[in-house]
Amino acid sequence: MISERLSRLLVEQVGHELSAHQAYIGIALSFERQSLKGWAKLFHDQALEEAQHAAKIWTFLIDNEVEFELPAIAAAPTRYATARDAVQAALESELRVTGQFDTMAKTALTDGDHRSFQFLQWFIDEQVEEERTMRALLDLIDSGINLFQAEPLLEGLVG
Ligand SMILES: [Fe+2]
Ligand SMILES: [Fe+2]
Repeated sequence: MISERLSRLLVEQVGHELSAHQAYIGIALSFERQSLKGWAKLFHDQALEEAQHAAKIWTFLIDNEVEFELPAIAAAPTRYATARDAVQAALESELRVTGQFDTMAKTALTDGDHRSFQFLQWFIDEQVEEERTMRALLDLIDSGINLFQAEPLLEGLVG
C-alpha cells in the first residue's frame, strides 16, 4: 500500500516525464532543422529514456492498484535561438526533475512509505547521470567547437 500523497505525486510525475519526453523531441527537432543529425539523435534517445521513466512509474502505480488518468502534457518548442539555449533548457528541466524526486523521497519518509521510498532510489541515481550528460554537453558547446565537428564526440559524453 503506498501513501495517498505519494500516489498523487507519482501520477503527477508520469506527466512530468512525458512532458520531458515531448520537450526532448522538440530539442531533437530543433537540431534536425540545422541538419545536426548527431545532436538530434542524442536528444531523440534522451526522449525515449523519458518515456521509459514514465512507463516505469505507471507500472509501479498499477502494481500498487492506484487509480489514475494520464496527466496533460506541456507544449514544447521546436526552435531555440542557439544550441546552448536548447541544452540549457534541458539541464534546467533535469534539475527540476531532481527536485521533484527529492520532494517525493522526503514525503515517502514522512509517510513511512518504504515501498515508494525504495522505488524512488533508482530515479535519484538516474538524475546524477542525466545532469552530468547535460553539463558535459554545455562544456562541449562552450569549448567553441563547431557543432558538426563535435558530433563524433557526443557518444562518449552520454552516461
Ligand atoms: Fe526522467
Ligand atoms: Fe531526464
